[in-house]
Amino acid sequence: MIFYFTGTGNSLYAAQRLSHELDEPLVSIADELNSRSSLHYTLLQDEKVGFVFPVYAWQPPNMVMDWIKAMKVKNYSNNYIFSVSTCGDEEGYTTRILKKSLLRKGLKLNSGFSLVMPNNYMIGTYNLDSESEVEKKLKAAEDRLSEISSAVKEKQDNIFETVIGSRPFKKSYITNFFFKKYAMDTKKFYATDNCSACGLCAEICNTKNITVDSKPVWGNNCVQCFACINRCPEEAIQYGNHTQSKGRYINPNCKFPE
Ligand SMILES: Cc1cc2nc3c(=O)[nH]c(=O)nc-3n(C[C@H](O)[C@H](O)[C@H](O)COP(=O)(O)O)c2cc1C
Repeated sequence: MIFYFTGTGNSLYAAQRLSHELDEPLVSIADELNSRSSLHYTLLQDEKVGFVFPVYAWQPPNMVMDWIKAMKVKNYSNNYIFSVSTCGDEEGYTTRILKKSLLRKGLKLNSGFSLVMPNNYMIGTYNLDSESEVEKKLKAAEDRLSEISSAVKEKQDNIFETVIGSRPFKKSYITNFFFKKYAMDTKKFYATDNCSACGLCAEICNTKNITVDSKPVWGNNCVQCFACINRCPEEAIQYGNHTQSKGRYINPNCKFPE
């Protein structure tokens, strides 16, 4: 079973490739949280379990952590568990944090991998990657995914190939604390007159936080996946004065669910 979370498709693409190569079914964490009351999963003998998700401010997304706290795995008998955290450049202690939260559920993360992918965050001093950088990262990710897939097929244990970067403690705990406190304000989202009220933003919102009448309106329950900003077909969604001149990113290789 491959559990995934995605905003702009990088993690979805990785999850789709791994699902295909490992012959494991794909499960969307957001869909599970939005539609199911019981988050119980029964494993088959020898079934592999993968977690594929983006890194947000050097941690796993809140929605992934909330789902791990709420879910229950049945018939776990040392099934092979792995994670793939997709990031623009570095993940800090993301995998370590995931590993600890799984341990609290009695689950052992056997191996964890970072997968560097194009950046989809463009707030403040951050910007999207250039076209050539996007191309380079997507090409490198193909080989990296083959390596990850082989390691998982062979059930390689205790392989933690993560791009931790510099000062991981400060970034994953202190900067992340301030990010969650100050940088997740949903009041800064708005739609310009280019908005055609097509409703795609509401449909793809991971937390079902958007309602559209003549224009989208955001509630308070946002994980900052930036699907709405990046995937709006009119590029009509903005965040304060940070996004007007910053371009948009969608993974070109994934297939978003209909
Ligand atoms: C709110 C937010 C925070 C992010 N923080 C990080 C980060 O700490 N380190 C990093 O390398 N990339 C960071 N990124 C970039 C994403 O992790 C990266 O582009 C990821 O592959 C996006 O996955 P997705 O397309 O599945 O949503 C961040 C993106 C967002 C939206």
